[in-house]
Amino acid sequence: MLSFFRRNKDKYTSWKYQKESFEKMYEEGTKEFQKRYHTELLEENKFVRQRIDDLFKTLFNYDIENLLDVGCGTGFYFSALSKYTKKIYGIDVSSLILKEAKKIIEGKNLKNIYFGLSISEVLPFRDNSFDCVFIFAVLHHLQNVDKAIAEAHRVLKKDGKCIVIEPNILNPAMFLFLCFKKHEIGILSLSKFTLEKKFQKLFKKIYTVPTTFQVTFTDPVSNMILSSLEKLPKPLLDYLAIHYVLIAEKE
Ligand SMILES: C[S@@+](CC[C@H](N)C(=O)[O-])C[C@H]1O[C@@H](n2cnc3c(N)ncnc32)[C@H](O)[C@@H]1O
Repeated sequence: MLSFFRRNKDKYTSWKYQKESFEKMYEEGTKEFQKRYHTELLEENKFVRQRIDDLFKTLFNYDIENLLDVGCGTGFYFSALSKYTKKIYGIDVSSLILKEAKKIIEGKNLKNIYFGLSISEVLPFRDNSFDCVFIFAVLHHLQNVDKAIAEAHRVLKKDGKCIVIEPNILNPAMFLFLCFKKHEIGILSLSKFTLEKKFQKLFKKIYTVPTTFQVTFTDPVSNMILSSLEKLPKPLLDYLAIHYVLIAEKE
């Protein structure tokens, strides 16, 4: 598996391959798309919505004038995020998926949301522009994670925060779930520890928080089990959490 990874990592994390994979999933309306990116999930499923609200309440607890959602996809989190910021800017590599995001925003009548077609490694914004850069489940899809981190750092204002949520590859179930999907292959070289080291090159204040939040387990029983796991001691949760949040503050 390691040699397959070494040989193919660059190919499967290229923005072209990623764009094609996500567009294919979207066009075919696959089960994965419906269970993870379909924004109606947030409206229809009060458990998912509640868990997102609980998590976001603890993360966006400072003054945020504007927020950049890097790799925003269908804008799954826009309605939840809009409670914490006056303006949201979303960028993604896929114009097709951005079109869907726009449709959803218009349908929900959400205001002050702006879109741009761009790659995470080259952001079309001036230095020191944002109070918050939010990157949910995107970094492990990228060929050049360091460049995306440098861009997030560049566009953040002083004291602004980069809030990253990534799958926890240290969890054996997550490892098995992700490592056989080609478009997820980048996760094999992006554990929490590797990502922390990458952020430490530019950001001084960094901390990570494990979380069992998971969108795709939408039934009440799974949600109850997952939220009770959150009470485990942190060292254990570091390995069993489904995701982790990394918060990096620009000085
Ligand atoms: C796993 S999805 C996450 C979408 C959204 N953040 C969410 O959590 O619902 C990854 C997204 O990253 C986008 N993406 C992949 N590579 C990218 C790149 N190099 N630059 C910008 N977006 C990229 C894909 O098009 C896709 O919408």
